[in-house]
Amino acid sequence: MLRRSGLIQGNVAKYTKSVIKKALLEAFRGPSPERPPFWFLRQAGRYLPEYRELRQNAPNFLDFCYSPELTVEAALQPLSRFKMDAAILFSDILVIPDALGCKVDFVEGQGPLLQPIRSERAIADLRPEGMEDHLQPVFASVRELRRVLPPETALIGFAGAPWTVALYMVEGRGGGESDVIRRWAYSEPESFAKLIEVLADTTVAYLKKQIECGAEVVMLFDTWAGLLSETQFHAWVIAPTAKIVSRLKASGSDVPIIGFPRGAGALYEDYVRETGIDGVSLDPTVPLTWAKEKLQPHCLVQGNLDNHLLVAGGRGLGEETGRILNALSGGGFIFNLGHGILPQTPPEHVARVAERLFSHDSAP
Ligand code: CP3
Repeated sequence: MLRRSGLIQGNVAKYTKSVIKKALLEAFRGPSPERPPFWFLRQAGRYLPEYRELRQNAPNFLDFCYSPELTVEAALQPLSRFKMDAAILFSDILVIPDALGCKVDFVEGQGPLLQPIRSERAIADLRPEGMEDHLQPVFASVRELRRVLPPETALIGFAGAPWTVALYMVEGRGGGESDVIRRWAYSEPESFAKLIEVLADTTVAYLKKQIECGAEVVMLFDTWAGLLSETQFHAWVIAPTAKIVSRLKASGSDVPIIGFPRGAGALYEDYVRETGIDGVSLDPTVPLTWAKEKLQPHCLVQGNLDNHLLVAGGRGLGEETGRILNALSGGGFIFNLGHGILPQTPPEHVARVAERLFSHDSAP
């Protein structure tokens, strides 16, 4: 039997009598009166010894992702240590290609490997109609998390954005020059658009279902957005994201949507103005004063502590945390990292940043 954290059980009893506002959701309306809410990208994972132990229950990572009992526990683990204002569903962006019938393998030490999709014929073979059935365990995890989370804690659902998921599907892996996908997108845009369209449609259905099951915020990870030049960025990042956002809103959902066009540089501005998203996650390279002037007037900003600084710790970590709080606390803001927590991160460094945030002290 898996243990459930004391924090969760204790708080349920304490709060059932009054209606509790969730600080993380309130932040979308403007500056937080007491302290900015916070959570960390990849807050569940291998930097936590209790996650490494739990992970032993399913040697195959996708099997782990499809076991609600394990994923609920993994999502709760960081909360019982650090008391973040939100839990994020424990899953992976690559469950979508897997659900569509594209073979996905997580190879220890190599990251994910996929059977590449490189033709219209291969796109036509994808099976979007099977998505909901295949991902039932993910929806069960969302429902159960919403049931057990304390009332002041928000639940974040997520998906990969079409460009980033397409990149894994076409290249068969992430990173590198990604020249196969770029050659296809640049030289035969009508044919490549078919893959983006299948992914955008599937993502809308997937996120709608997460919202129906209890997700209170959804996030779109576009990890590889920074590879694209201006025109291509508009075609493959902004346009599909805008379509997903407008279709979720048209379905009657008022759940805030946070986009993460990692590495977009100055194009963050077009992204915020043209996609209709409610919040934007900033990578560590985004200058804070620029974000405050150009992005925060349009939507909530989230970020952007350097994840390597969280590994290093020391005085630099405290100073940078203070600098981010000073720059962005005056508007809609969620404190977070600029990219996911690295496996080599000492949990004590995460604890130190969390304590600093609870003391709502923006001095360096
Ligand atoms: O707390 C959380 O945020 C956990 C949920 C989560 C995971 N992956 C779990 C995971 C989320 C939100 C993701 C998103 C994800 N997955 C992204 C977008 C965010 C980003 O980091 O840019 C991407 C690009 C992926 C694809 C992916 N999944 C990669 C590249 C890897 C290998 C990374 C590595 O460090 O080995 C994964 C595997 C993965 N996803 C792990 C976890 C905890 C590690 C696998 C394990 O525990 O064995």
